[in-house]
Amino acid sequence: MALLIRNGEIVTEGSRLRADIYAEGETITAIGNNLAAAPGTEVIDASGKLIFPGFIDPHVHIYLPFMGTFAKDTHETASIAALVGGTTTYIEMCCPNRNDDALEGYELWKSRAAGKSACDYAFHMSVTKFVNETESQLREIVADGSASFKIFLAYKNFFGVDDGEMYQTLELAKRLGVIVTAHCENAELVARLQQKLLAEGRIGPEWHEPSRPESVEAEGTGRLATFLENTGATGYVVHLSCEKALRAAVDAKSRGVKIHVESVLPHFLLDKSHAELPGVEGMKHVMSPPLRAKRNLDVLWKALAAGDIDTVGTDHCPFDAEQKLMGKDSFVNIPNGIPGIEDRVNLLYTQGVKRGRLDLERFVDAASTRAAKLFGLYPRKGTVAVGSDADLVVYDTNYRGVISAKSQYTNNDYNAFEGVEIEGRPSVVTVRGKVQVRDGKFVGERGRGRMLKREPSHF
Ligand code: URP
Ligand code: ZN
Ligand code: ZN
Repeated sequence: MALLIRNGEIVTEGSRLRADIYAEGETITAIGNNLAAAPGTEVIDASGKLIFPGFIDPHVHIYLPFMGTFAKDTHETASIAALVGGTTTYIEMCCPNRNDDALEGYELWKSRAAGKSACDYAFHMSVTKFVNETESQLREIVADGSASFKIFLAYKNFFGVDDGEMYQTLELAKRLGVIVTAHCENAELVARLQQKLLAEGRIGPEWHEPSRPESVEAEGTGRLATFLENTGATGYVVHLSCEKALRAAVDAKSRGVKIHVESVLPHFLLDKSHAELPGVEGMKHVMSPPLRAKRNLDVLWKALAAGDIDTVGTDHCPFDAEQKLMGKDSFVNIPNGIPGIEDRVNLLYTQGVKRGRLDLERFVDAASTRAAKLFGLYPRKGTVAVGSDADLVVYDTNYRGVISAKSQYTNNDYNAFEGVEIEGRPSVVTVRGKVQVRDGKFVGERGRGRMLKREPSHF
């Protein structure tokens, strides 16, 4: 079936163009004016609307056994939530823990997604220990098309690696041409500060941030950078939350270290006062690195506009109120995570573009193109061009709405952005030429998503 989108304004990371887009089958086959439609073509009138490349969320958790429970979404629910919000590809963190076999974990994560996701997806493979078989297993995983790793400097004894294991992972990644994404917090300091605060009777969610202060994240970021510098590997700091950590990354970049930076939706919009709310309301805002002092938000927006922050992800990680209450007697037991896969694009557009913090091209770059380039998906994904997959977002800038858990597809009983206004939303979303969403409703084919195979590109 062919698709013709007429009269929209196509926005990519480097251009704006008023033209029609024609897709035969799964790919874009023509871009131009007054394109003719063969009989049977589905025609969409995009007059007055913007057309973006399908957005890419480079950091999500869907299947996640973590902190004694499981994140709430499945690939069915998360992919539909993603699509309704304009995200047509996500990269899930495949997270076996230190006691699991890496290859078995990889197969398990793949099996959870296969035939279930309504949008395309890929995996970052977590390296949570480095033992005899690790190198051969990682080679097999890369050969299978998952050409990016994840390491955690936090979460001691669970996901966390020590410095030796970080070195081995980076050194192998350099040889394989694989980029390494990293959660940068000093695990030892977090553990010590948690113990100290609990011993003082400080047990509420408001103590989560003081247990992992900005300096602890800056240390992790700086240490990753030092290891990248000395191995020649390429790194990507995930969910960077504060000015101190940003400075460590930018300093490293300026001395030639191959380091990229992601920040995630909650850190642009929410601050630590949200985690200081009483009871479960505070717990709903616990994630790591934590929501920070408000002064950081403006710093992150400016760094995003300047490109010092490369991408905006979500770190989508839904736990419901009952799960959050597992930490009612101790903040260290609150499952860490805030969902956002459904709202990232609309909130970034509203709070970024509409508030004058981001231009449209940089918005597309940060929410789609740069992730595609860094993670081996470009130009198949991340742009609107002949030969690219017909993943397209026809965006209605006149839409006005309010975010609410009541109307979300995400499988959770709250939304951390409840009540926030949005000034725009996708009116049509396509995945490889097929309409999956119309005006906030999933109308497509479940299980249409495919795992995207990616080649190493960071030599
Ligand atoms: O709080 C968070 N970020 N939860 C998900 C796990 C991680 O660290 O990314
Ligand atoms: Zn993390
Ligand atoms: Zn994460």
